[in-house]
Amino acid sequence: MKASIGKSPGLAVVSVGKRRDSHTFIRIKLKACDEVGIATLIEELPENCTEHQLLNVVSGFNENPLVHGIIVQLPLPQHLDEEKIIDSVSPEKDVDGFHPLNMGNLAMRGREPLFIPCASKGCIELLLRSGVEIMGKKVAVIGRSKIVGLPTSLLLQRHHATVSTVHAFTTNPEKITREADIVVSDVGIPNIVRGNWLKPGAFVIDMGTNRIKDPSSRNGYRVTGDVCFKEATKVVSAITPVPGGIGPITISMLLSNTLDSAKRAFIFP
Ligand code: GUN
Repeated sequence: MKASIGKSPGLAVVSVGKRRDSHTFIRIKLKACDEVGIATLIEELPENCTEHQLLNVVSGFNENPLVHGIIVQLPLPQHLDEEKIIDSVSPEKDVDGFHPLNMGNLAMRGREPLFIPCASKGCIELLLRSGVEIMGKKVAVIGRSKIVGLPTSLLLQRHHATVSTVHAFTTNPEKITREADIVVSDVGIPNIVRGNWLKPGAFVIDMGTNRIKDPSSRNGYRVTGDVCFKEATKVVSAITPVPGGIGPITISMLLSNTLDSAKRAFIFP
């Protein structure tokens, strides 16, 4: 794109507050953009910023022609209305795919969202590239967050899987997961999914990123998934490790969404 029209895609990131995990995610995203030639803009607002300030920042990025993708890193501090902020991002720059217009179009057959949430898109990409048939398969998605669980369930249904959603109020979740050919987990509880929750030969995508204390590691903690990896590897045919599994693929999908957005803006093939 740069060689032929002299333009590059641009991604704007909005960060509010000092959450360590959010800052880590943002750092990874910015580095990945840098590596592929996507320009980045970052706006850091204090924890106690007003909704008005945040809306102004988003509005500035909506109007900025150098920006093709906007990310407001979630979660936001309690006093800010997350829904209102997500609604304020232009659907044409919503590379997270969280705007109700994009999420709604993802949910409805025959409609096409402008963007699909990155973790869900990464999940499908991983299954397809690994030669795992999705159509007609039983899938258990554990979790129903707007960032991962909900869009992943919707996207898997678009690929004709039979999807069961497991959540905090599900009775006997292990009965459902044990029948699934594919299990996707995004709960945020380390090792909640045990080996005996899984069907022999299943394909497992672990989206959990949980920080647990580990005195033997340099910074006193380590990151682990939702699935008990040691037990699962004895049962399943494949599982994504944490860290290093679905995370890097999710970042790639963000780059891909940003490039798609710039192509649309520049009417570039
Ligand atoms: N917080 C955790 N994951 C994400 C993500 O993919 N996008 C945004 N905006 N916030 C997040």
